[in-house]
Amino acid sequence: MENIKTYTFSINNKQVSLDLPEDIPLLWILRDHLQLTGTKFSCGIGQCGACTVLIDNQAVFSCQLTAEEINGKNITTIEGISSNGLHPVQQAWLDNEVSQCGYCQSGQILTAISLFTQNPAPDKDEINRVMSKVLCRCGTYTRIKKAISQLINTTQINKS
Ligand code: FES
Ligand code: FES
Repeated sequence: MENIKTYTFSINNKQVSLDLPEDIPLLWILRDHLQLTGTKFSCGIGQCGACTVLIDNQAVFSCQLTAEEINGKNITTIEGISSNGLHPVQQAWLDNEVSQCGYCQSGQILTAISLFTQNPAPDKDEINRVMSKVLCRCGTYTRIKKAISQLINTTQINKS
């Protein structure tokens, strides 16, 4: 029998309390309990990054964290990255026409945001190391790098 408990956490700056099985992955809390479907299911085993969200500004795979592990944390999904128009990373993605099918792109954008949160001017090695955590079956990697270069070369990322 499932062990149901009450968990309280912040999603996109709103406090939420839900009764949940202790081992339910965050990915399914977001999609099935909160209707935040911008976070995508793909591999489900921590290898593709499609399910990436931010916890305290760090990119994490939501399929790999349980309700027990996210209790009390601050979670940001693609729906919560900007309260006022597009986030600068989203704007750079649009400017460079990054997206193809779009399935991996919330994970890509959130990973880029976490990259810039750690370092506003990452070098090529750091960009490759961090961004390689999210796979893109459509091969948008070149345009992702162009969008990131645009952000580094302008001051707009510092205004987010
Ligand atoms: S769905 Fe979570 S890493 Fe692939
Ligand atoms: S845009 Fe299609 S999987 Fe990345």
